[in-house]
Amino acid sequence: MIYLDANATTPVLPEVLEEMLPWLREGYANPSGSYAAAKLVRKAIEQARAQVAALIGAEPEEIIFTGCGTESVNTALHALDTLTGQGAAVVSSIEHSAVLRCVENLTRARELVPVDAGGRLDLVALSTALDGAAFVSIMAANNETGVIPPLLEVVELARARGVPIHTDAVQAAGKIALNVRELGVDLLSLSAHKFHGPKGVGALYVRRGLRFAPLLSGGGQESGRRSGTENTAGIVGMGAAASRVMRQLTPHPAAALRDAFEARVLAEISGVTINGDVTHRLPNTSHLSFDGCDAAGLLILLDESGVACSAGSACMTGKQRPSHVQLAMGIPEARAKTSLRISFSRLNTLEEALAGAAAVKKAVEKLRRVQGLGVGPVTVYSP
Ligand SMILES: Cc1ncc(COP(=O)(O)O)c(C=O)c1O
Repeated sequence: MIYLDANATTPVLPEVLEEMLPWLREGYANPSGSYAAAKLVRKAIEQARAQVAALIGAEPEEIIFTGCGTESVNTALHALDTLTGQGAAVVSSIEHSAVLRCVENLTRARELVPVDAGGRLDLVALSTALDGAAFVSIMAANNETGVIPPLLEVVELARARGVPIHTDAVQAAGKIALNVRELGVDLLSLSAHKFHGPKGVGALYVRRGLRFAPLLSGGGQESGRRSGTENTAGIVGMGAAASRVMRQLTPHPAAALRDAFEARVLAEISGVTINGDVTHRLPNTSHLSFDGCDAAGLLILLDESGVACSAGSACMTGKQRPSHVQLAMGIPEARAKTSLRISFSRLNTLEEALAGAAAVKKAVEKLRRVQGLGVGPVTVYSP
């Protein structure tokens, strides 16, 4: 398999797995225990906390481990909802469903801030929405297009109005540099499996001094901020992955692969559109529309060639509706249904990127032959 779906999940790095295994074998003690074996587990968890904190420039005590990125987001939004007064929850229209569904379930009003054709946040609309808002949540990078919103400006607008801010950095972490002190956010969500750590473990940064209300109550683990016996191996894996990816953030190892893939696709296939602002994009993500090609058909042909990628976000796969992200960008429904997301990980090679491009070309040509549809010119979105 040529795996080009890194925004859905990434393979665990072999050295990360090695670091995890002892904590699934002999290191099984409950870290809340008072005996030596438990203290060893506690020490490993605290080391991982420091490693995850370092990835985002935080202090270890500002990191809470959670069961996944979704739980991290829900914990952050629950805390903000509980501790803020009246006002709307302000989010962008292209947030991941973890944010969108969560705010839908709150009893307070919500404001969806639009994006333009390049997937860029409308800062004027945001500024208006922030007047009288209770809190705001804007992602650090979009999972489908890879577009990176201007978080510094978002924080500045929010700060000026005293509105606390959460950012869903699940896709951004490990792909671009993130520093919570420089960004000035109050809460930030992470998920290990998006940066070569294991699935089922996430983290939430909570700025020191921020009032907090836990989502999960119980045994009081994580200083009472997230009850539940710790997933030691997962946490150790998250810490190990964080410290590995930090060593090579810029340039991201997949950036050259993504660029080579896109260059080959644009040179050899007509009727291709790159979606999203290419000047503010994750280095590993390519979101492309292919005139006259149904994405579901492309995925089947690519799968037959051994290439794994996504139509829209992984969470949308199987649904016939175009993704909310593409619709929010004003991409016409017909074109939205022709879009693929190809996302590279640190473990991909140039050979795989080029073989992926060749497989896409073959699939597009076959579908167009079968469907006999006309093809437009190559379009690159220019901001
Ligand atoms: C932007 C974003 N937020 C949150 C999540 C949810 O993370 P997890 O799968 O760890 O629950 C994802 C996963 O696709 C994501 O891409």
